[in-house]
Amino acid sequence: MSSFSIYLLTLALLLQTNYGASSYLNHVCSGFENFTTNDPYESNLRKLMGNLYYQTPPVGFGLGLVGHYPYQTYGLALCRGGVEATDCRTCVNQASAEIHKRCPYNKGAIIWYDNCLLKYLNTDFLGQIDNQNKFYLLKLRNVSEPTSFNQKTSELLSLLAKEASATPKLYADGELELGESRKLYGLAQCTWDLSSSDCFECLDGIIGELPRCCDGKEGGRVVGGSCNIRYEIYPFVSTA
Ligand SMILES: *[C@@H]1O[C@H](CO)[C@@H](O)[C@H](O)[C@H]1NC(C)=O
Ligand SMILES: *[C@@H]1O[C@H](CO)[C@@H](O)[C@H](O)[C@H]1NC(C)=O
Repeated sequence: MSSFSIYLLTLALLLQTNYGASSYLNHVCSGFENFTTNDPYESNLRKLMGNLYYQTPPVGFGLGLVGHYPYQTYGLALCRGGVEATDCRTCVNQASAEIHKRCPYNKGAIIWYDNCLLKYLNTDFLGQIDNQNKFYLLKLRNVSEPTSFNQKTSELLSLLAKEASATPKLYADGELELGESRKLYGLAQCTWDLSSSDCFECLDGIIGELPRCCDGKEGGRVVGGSCNIRYEIYPFVSTA
């Protein structure tokens, strides 16, 4: 990669981090084997993507299995809570096109956008907490009182984790007063293949990573394959 494209990538990530636009966040190509052109896996995967594209937008989540051993593929798609069906559809469509470009022959892959997540694999991962795929996004700026701020952050996200895991959509967002008319905003979400208790366990686990990820930072996210959390000092969830 040329240094110019690395610069662009860095800039894109910074812009992303600063403005939280609904765009690409990250991806991982996985699966231990690759498939080849005209492999039955390829047509099963295409069918799976089509199913997820139709299933996901109306409700915000879709999952499925297509094909039989040894060519079967399992997948899911999740849109961020509160995202309109049209934006969800756009995101799932974009995710499946982009992952096809980035991981053309991998039997497994995961891709994250602001508005959605798409994942597939040739083994059954559904209903299990994904502890492998995870990354952090954080604001560069430090807060002035990190100790109390960190406490508030983890307080808000722990509340949201409880709330999210107790609702059918496994999603919650909310806010907390910071004093001096400032507020902290947060969200917590799990993929719907998890049980309520696994959702809580997943969220509790990534909240525990906040000190490593986002110590004293004005905003941060821990993003995984089964759950994610985010906090900011400005409202980032559209109220439309
Ligand atoms: C799978 O394909 C990727 C390129 O997409 C390549 O880097 C990798 O070595 C391949 N893995 C195997 C096991 O063939
Ligand atoms: C934030 O704080 C860390 C450690 O206290 C320091 O290394 C870093 O330079 C600070 N960043 C900014 C943008 O002030």
